[in-house]
Amino acid sequence: MTQPMTEKLLIAVPVLAVLAACVADQSQMPGPDEGAALFAENCTACHDYQGQGGTLAGGQTAPDLTGISARNGGVFPRAAVLSKIDGYGHGGMTPEIMPEFGALLEGDLVPVDVEGTLTPTPRPLAALLSYLESIQTAEG
Ligand code: HEC
Repeated sequence: MTQPMTEKLLIAVPVLAVLAACVADQSQMPGPDEGAALFAENCTACHDYQGQGGTLAGGQTAPDLTGISARNGGVFPRAAVLSKIDGYGHGGMTPEIMPEFGALLEGDLVPVDVEGTLTPTPRPLAALLSYLESIQTAEG
């Protein structure tokens, strides 16, 4: 049995609308949820599962990442945080504590508002930034 044309359109139009929404979403700043998953995979070993930091083998301390804003006069320093994570990706830590995060620098570029300038940023980095920004607390 063939469907009438109008019925086919009634199905096709919402499907296209959903597809369009997905495509648009891929080109925007990811939300905290996407970053939370990456954080759980790559960062909790040192920074604790809620980002609250901890002492590492060897006595070094991984800072409480919920207090970045509090330590910076109440402002979340996007540029500094991005370059910190970016540095991890480039192996910018000492070998003892340096995790290899090369994959974090791979991904489509999304525009991130960094102190007023839209900066093309690999999506995983932008997602981590978004997550970290979402977990800031007033007390730190
Ligand atoms: C191997 C342990 C380790 C892992 C894994 C790790 N970190 Fe860190 N992180 C540290 C240590 C130690 C410091 C403090 C020394 C420094 O700043 O380099 C730090 C500092 C930071 C800072 C600076 C905090 C501030 O107050 O300035 C940020 C942001 C950060 N880490 C984010 C992350 C993110 C995001 C991940 C996961 C992609 C991650 N870290 C994974 C150990 C780690």
